[in-house]
Amino acid sequence: MKTAISPAQIQQIAEKHGTPCWAYDAQMIRRQIQQLKQFDVIRFAQKSCSNIHILRLMREQGVLVDSVSLGEVERALVAGYQPQEAAEHAPIVFTADLLDRAALKRVVELNIPVNCGSPQMLEQLGQAHPGHPVWIRINPGFGHGHSRKTNTGGEQSKHGIWFEELQQAYALIQQYGLQLIGLHMHIGSGVDYDHLQSVCDAMLEQVKLCPLDLQAISIGGGLSIPYQSDEPIVDTAHYFSIWQQAREKIEKHLGHRISMEIEPGRFLIAEAGILISELRAQKRVGSNFFAFVDAGFNDLVRPSMYGSYHKITAHLADGSLRAGPTRPTVVAGPLCESGDVFTQEEGGVVTHQDLPACEVGDYLVFHDAGAYGASMSSNYNSRPLIPEVLIDGQASALIRRRQTIQELIALEQ
Ligand code: LLP
Repeated sequence: MKTAISPAQIQQIAEKHGTPCWAYDAQMIRRQIQQLKQFDVIRFAQKSCSNIHILRLMREQGVLVDSVSLGEVERALVAGYQPQEAAEHAPIVFTADLLDRAALKRVVELNIPVNCGSPQMLEQLGQAHPGHPVWIRINPGFGHGHSRKTNTGGEQSKHGIWFEELQQAYALIQQYGLQLIGLHMHIGSGVDYDHLQSVCDAMLEQVKLCPLDLQAISIGGGLSIPYQSDEPIVDTAHYFSIWQQAREKIEKHLGHRISMEIEPGRFLIAEAGILISELRAQKRVGSNFFAFVDAGFNDLVRPSMYGSYHKITAHLADGSLRAGPTRPTVVAGPLCESGDVFTQEEGGVVTHQDLPACEVGDYLVFHDAGAYGASMSSNYNSRPLIPEVLIDGQASALIRRRQTIQELIALEQ
């Protein structure tokens, strides 16, 4: 287990708040932040985990925030991020490929810099508020991701302004007197060093082609974490040094210093989060042995959506790890849908994890679930959103209570 959440705490959380339940380790989040402190700005991609208490923790550590919707802007404000006049190092940046009308109104009201992924965003902002601070999100023509669905560059990706269309974007910036802060590239989630070098090269090339001055670059997020034990751990010093070389060339070209932002989600929060579920049934289905837990893909969708792996551990009712010989176990949830299986590959092929012989009432804990866990949950099958708990050493705080079924139904009454 990577978090410092102890077996005793797992048991206490489950007893006090019921299952399924999310838990996060605050100390681990702080440690991850420290690893990226060399960057001028760490901007948390809050889509990975948007609980306001997590955002508050990030803010207290000097981490700024990226918002991708009106809801995420309001969350950042509640967490204490204050939009300010200076556009460089703005506490909140709004990143998207379009601006809906409500979001447009709010970012203009608050002067929140907008990272624009389409020319229409520039036009609409320019019409609403000449002089508005903007970033340009560039699609450099290639991407990379742990799944096709998390690759955010290249012709198949909807994200960013295509690198061959950038001169038109710069013309719009000039036409509307928008204030260009910087260039941004995020080519996908799941870093590898080959692609990293290509992004650095592409960024340098684009800076050279940009007719306007720049205060900053953002290198996006995408830093991976080892979900499987044989997956590499990102060497953040190496990662920084590769970007530092690119940055020096960029600064030489521009003739002044720039600020270098990194925009991670997963790296800061994934390993700090677990999902605690209870084993409620077990059965043999042909050659497969199934264990059923009370969490479903409405809670943790990554295995169903991307075939993602989350290590599962089994715990006795007192929280201690269950020992003994293991057997290949398919772990499934309660949803009325065949894809509600936590052990599967991309494309839906059912696999298994080796688990000890468990009993109903055991806790099955899903690891590395802090990123894109709670934030991607839904009410599918009319299941309420589940609680979130923040552990900080021995302290424990309920940071989201369980939604009630009444609340879920209320919107329709
Ligand atoms: N910046 C931008 C503009 C992004 O679109 C994203 C992620 C990030 C930063 C943060 O990426 P990260 O460091 O977390 O990899 N739901 C998928 C991941 C989707 C990522 C979408 N954009 C998953 O569960 O793996």
